[in-house]
Amino acid sequence: MLFDTHAHYTDERFSDDVDEILSSMPANNVGLIMNSCSDIPEIDGILALCEEYPFIYASIGVHPHEAEHMTEKDIDILREYAKNPKVKAIGEIGLDYYYDFSPRDIQKQWFARQVELAKELKLPVIIHDRDAHKDCMDILREHSVKECGGVFHCYAGSVEMAREILDWGMYIAFGGSLTFKKSVKPKEVAKYVPLDRIVIETDSPYLTPEPHRGKRNSSLYVHYVAEKLAEIKGLPVEEIENATWENGKRLFGI
Ligand code: NI
Repeated sequence: MLFDTHAHYTDERFSDDVDEILSSMPANNVGLIMNSCSDIPEIDGILALCEEYPFIYASIGVHPHEAEHMTEKDIDILREYAKNPKVKAIGEIGLDYYYDFSPRDIQKQWFARQVELAKELKLPVIIHDRDAHKDCMDILREHSVKECGGVFHCYAGSVEMAREILDWGMYIAFGGSLTFKKSVKPKEVAKYVPLDRIVIETDSPYLTPEPHRGKRNSSLYVHYVAEKLAEIKGLPVEEIENATWENGKRLFGI
């Protein structure tokens, strides 16, 4: 079965049909979903989905877009939520210099603080890095991310950067952008990264893979990423499916 390691089912684009979509997953070969989190008010909704659907797990954390509003009290709130056994990661956390919705120094401060929290809670991190490779790597190095591990979601860095991430024991996630005709770098990285360190994702409702690009994404499309990866690696898709399933379980301790 397939493990979609990054999706956002509390997004408003799913508000009309989330139950219909999620209940169709097992029959469509999607056996596990990690629901990612962008802000604290979302967490109750995510945990409600986890309770209803045994195959959904939760990540909790504050996205760089929302970093500006964060306080130390939010760290305490996250620590409380982490007691729920379905919470398996801290994320998505990181830096976003493409949109710059929060000032960069504040993004960096709360990114580092949440890496420290993940280490304290012994949970892996889910990293969001958009146009901020250097600062992102500097923070992860300084704060010894290798102590908790984690995954770079929708990886967009170089092979060289991937080498250091792998040295830290982390995983690299590929999503819909791997299927885009013009995306050359992710394909090079996918060729380089050993299969036992790759996971797949959709980032639903965003980043819909070919041939459905432009439509709303869902975990039902994660197989397109597995198929593209099989083509790049020159391996049967079943092998990709099994490896990414096992990797995702190992990464999140499921
Ligand atoms: Ni996301």
